[in-house]
Amino acid sequence: MTECGRQPTMMIVENDPVRRARLLDLVQGQAAWVADLCDLAARTPGGPVVILAGRSCAGAPRSVVRRLCRNGGVAFICVGWELESGPIALDGIYSVKDDEDGSALAALIERCRTALERPEDRSPAQPGRVTSVVSPKGGSGKTSVAINVAIALAQRSSGPVALVDCDLAYGDVAINLGLNPAYNVYDAAQCAADGGLHQDQLARFLVRHQSSGLLVLTAPTEPAYASTISADNLVTVIEMLRETCEHVVLDTSSTLNDVSVALARTVDDAIVVTGLDVSNVKNAKLGLQTMALLGVPRERLHLVVNRSDADVRLDCTAAEAALGRTPVVQIPQQMDIPVSLVTGEPVVTSEPKSSAALSFAALAVWLSADPPGSGDSTD
Ligand SMILES: Nc1ncnc2c1ncn2[C@@H]1O[C@H](COP(=O)(O)OP(=O)(O)O)[C@@H](O)[C@H]1O
Ligand SMILES: [Mg+2]
Repeated sequence: MTECGRQPTMMIVENDPVRRARLLDLVQGQAAWVADLCDLAARTPGGPVVILAGRSCAGAPRSVVRRLCRNGGVAFICVGWELESGPIALDGIYSVKDDEDGSALAALIERCRTALERPEDRSPAQPGRVTSVVSPKGGSGKTSVAINVAIALAQRSSGPVALVDCDLAYGDVAINLGLNPAYNVYDAAQCAADGGLHQDQLARFLVRHQSSGLLVLTAPTEPAYASTISADNLVTVIEMLRETCEHVVLDTSSTLNDVSVALARTVDDAIVVTGLDVSNVKNAKLGLQTMALLGVPRERLHLVVNRSDADVRLDCTAAEAALGRTPVVQIPQQMDIPVSLVTGEPVVTSEPKSSAALSFAALAVWLSADPPGSGDSTD
């Protein structure tokens, strides 16, 4: 949990690459981007977020913009176009000329950021969202994605965020974050098995990643403990974390077993990570199918392409066609990601302005959003 006010995330929505590059330039690269407004609106981002909607969004229906802003904490800036006026005034919508030097836009962004930068209390009655990070392929980047997106969520959430290492035999969240805790998920699952797991006890089993405030339940230190943790007890632990945390992120193993089946039935959202080589894409397809068979609805399954710019790869469009969906974000290959194994500081905290960190921030915005169908979108 961040003790200070939450920093608004900047998002650019523009499908024209030249205009998008210009907007990115105007904000010194400090923004994540998506091409399509409807994709973003389908999930209604939770604040605080400043959305710069470029000219490719012109003509967007008011209902779409209204849906985007409905949770508050969102500033929506139409750059070079205006939203058609309607019967109801919409809060947090601005228009600005697409001027040469971008000074009007810069001033407006600053005003919006200052207005949005305030702590907000989350209603304790609302259960947290559980998101797993999955891939049938080892080495595809599950742990890196889970850690970085969990920290990006912690940076933008007002409530606590927890990361659980569910790769029970070979989990390496602890080594990636430089943690050496006295307790781990084995202790929590044992207490759950004995019927004696309480919130205060669970809190003792969590370790805090100092620079981000992320709460972590690490994997057992010995692979032999994995088989002693039942799927039911692990789910009990996760459900208890959901009661006190705004988000619970699960790193997982590539194995399909009773634990992975139980987790698939527990989560609200699942991120399927893939690289762009043929075998990764083939396995990601199987992973998406498996999650769907286990009952995760299509709109709760999110594709993330990792190492999107690696040398040996398929064209992203070919991969999208094979997988039947567009990735939510693409994460470039970046040396700062493996470097966290040495420093214990993931790229979102060590290099927050890098393109990988911005992709993780965009993914966190996506996951903080209301899922489709969770509210009224009429105008
Ligand atoms: N985008 C990336 N750029 C560079 N290295 C990466 C990237 N994603 C993951 N890695 C590195 O690849 C290795 C495997 O990633 P990891 O997240 O542990 O995969 P998994 O959990 O799926 O087995 C790690 O050393 C990690 O640091
Ligand atoms: Mg892993």
